[in-house]
Amino acid sequence: MRFLMTGATGFLGHHLWATLRDAGHEGVALARDPERAAKIVPGGRIFEWNGVVGLPPESAFTGVDVVFNLIGESVARRWNAERKRRFRDSRVLPTRALVERMSGLATRPGTMISIAGTGFYGDRGEEVLTETSTPGKGFLASLSQEWEIAAGEAEPLGVRTVVVRSGVILGRDGGVLPRILTPFRFGLGGRLGSGRQYFPWIHLADAVGILLHVADRTEIRGPLNGVAPEPVTNAELTAALGRSLNRPTALRVPEFALKAALGEMAEELLLASQRVSPIRALQTGYGFKFPLLGPAIADLCAPAS
Ligand SMILES: NC(=O)c1ccc[n+]([C@@H]2O[C@H](COP(=O)([O-])OP(=O)(O)OC[C@H]3O[C@@H](n4cnc5c(N)ncnc54)[C@H](OP(=O)(O)O)[C@@H]3O)[C@@H](O)[C@H]2O)c1
Repeated sequence: MRFLMTGATGFLGHHLWATLRDAGHEGVALARDPERAAKIVPGGRIFEWNGVVGLPPESAFTGVDVVFNLIGESVARRWNAERKRRFRDSRVLPTRALVERMSGLATRPGTMISIAGTGFYGDRGEEVLTETSTPGKGFLASLSQEWEIAAGEAEPLGVRTVVVRSGVILGRDGGVLPRILTPFRFGLGGRLGSGRQYFPWIHLADAVGILLHVADRTEIRGPLNGVAPEPVTNAELTAALGRSLNRPTALRVPEFALKAALGEMAEELLLASQRVSPIRALQTGYGFKFPLLGPAIADLCAPAS
């Protein structure tokens, strides 16, 4: 198989790239800085494209079977109007441009797998959220809807399109886990707010595994939740991290302090509750490597072998 990837240099992208390359597939990456990208994703063809201006080069699509669309500036930092514009533009504009480029191709890729987030669902308390649940409210929910609609435009072109609504990806070398772990290692870890909010999580091995699963299973189209089957609250996550590192977790960061320090980002990313179920992944036969949080955290906190 030949695959094309945006966001290949990122945390999720470079792990997916390595897995696909190890399995013998040919890779094409679209990246802002091809020289830097060649070091992070070796062994493939790299085309320069910044995602937000113009269309990706047509020649990059030659012989491509599957497009993995993983581009997007990280939202895990304090938000302001300019950053919110960049969060949106670095997702919605590249997705639209990919679809526009594919619309003009004589031979189109068979499949596009576009990443998205559980931010689609907004703040939903105890409600169990499946792929058929309605979207929520807030900045991330409306960005996610725009992003998913942009990806869905590939389907009428005859490109099978899957949108993977990923939970927070837990890995050793990127994403939020290394940042969360620092205070815990110093015994300063604790619940955020009430700790009752549900935290949608997935081990990196399963985040990669689900993308491969949907690439392989041609009957899957539309949204699919990329989260582990065991729903946990922030308090349960806190306890699991404390146990794994053998550190106390008695502290509690009050809601008002988080909102004062991090503003809207704290409300939508840290305090929002999303009890998301991976019902479609399970129904289509995906076998999770890390369905439970305890073993996932133990694996990620164990000394590197
Ligand atoms: N990590 C998670 O927990 C998580 C959870 C849910 C959804 N997701 C989504 O999955 C995707 C990948 O996440 P990740 O953690 O791998 O992110 P990441 O490490 O920050 O990588 C993002 C990639 O997007 C490109 N990019 C970043 N900002 C850009 C901008 N302003 N303009 C153009 N390109 C830009 C970069 O590519 P170049 O610099 O090479 O061009 C980079 O490779 C994102 O869309 C993210 O929202 C991630």
